[in-house]
Amino acid sequence: MSEVRRHPGDPGRRIIIALDFDTVRAAEATVDRLGDAAKSYKVGLELLTVAGPGLAAGLVEAGKDVFLDLKLFEIPTSVAGAVRAAGRLGVTMVTVHAMGGTEIMAAAVRAAADFPRLKVLALTVVTSLTDPDLAAVGLNTTVDEQVVRLARLARHAGCHGVVASPREAAALRAALGPDMLIVTPGVRLPADLTTGVTTEHARPAHPVAAVRAGATHVIIGRSLTRAADPATGT
Ligand code: C5P
Repeated sequence: MSEVRRHPGDPGRRIIIALDFDTVRAAEATVDRLGDAAKSYKVGLELLTVAGPGLAAGLVEAGKDVFLDLKLFEIPTSVAGAVRAAGRLGVTMVTVHAMGGTEIMAAAVRAAADFPRLKVLALTVVTSLTDPDLAAVGLNTTVDEQVVRLARLARHAGCHGVVASPREAAALRAALGPDMLIVTPGVRLPADLTTGVTTEHARPAHPVAAVRAGATHVIIGRSLTRAADPATGT
């Protein structure tokens, strides 16, 4: 598949499991249950705050890829410092808000340059936001237009990829060309229908549909982590 040629590497590492837990114990139990079936994890602000950096460092030590979802939106100096700290942990992905503008994204990219495996991903529009939400903060545009606009800004600033919902992936792949990473949360597995797992994603998509639309990586959270058998999602 041409997509695989453009983004070489272990395909199993393109499925990123979101460890959205409020205790270290729950996160570690999920990692233990998944074992070798999972090779990439996302650690977000909730788990980072309760666990500290040690949990992410431990996953790196165990050979996992770690996406540290810091969602940085700060002055460039602070963003650069946080990216360097992430790089020293050995994580492979970190996020910065594209809404923060070119300078903070460029600062993140410059800071990441010392860590060859570290990719800077730009968040475009948080998936829970709607057109009226953008109007309420003074943006006279639609979510779809804003996502593409911010993704182009991210590319211009040197970011390695973007985070976007699966329904935006095709438009982004067309706008960004073949090289940028597109990482999509908002995927659900068919088994959710029977397990009753619900999420607040406005329009969730199957992971395969997200990849066909141009995603290079998919983030799966509760569909797997709250399933009776996380390794199979059933
Ligand atoms: O819904 P799920 O548990 O699969 O969420 C996995 C990740 O997707 C979360 O860690 C969050 O970063 C992201 N997410 C999102 N928009 C939502 C819900 C979750 O981007 N509405």
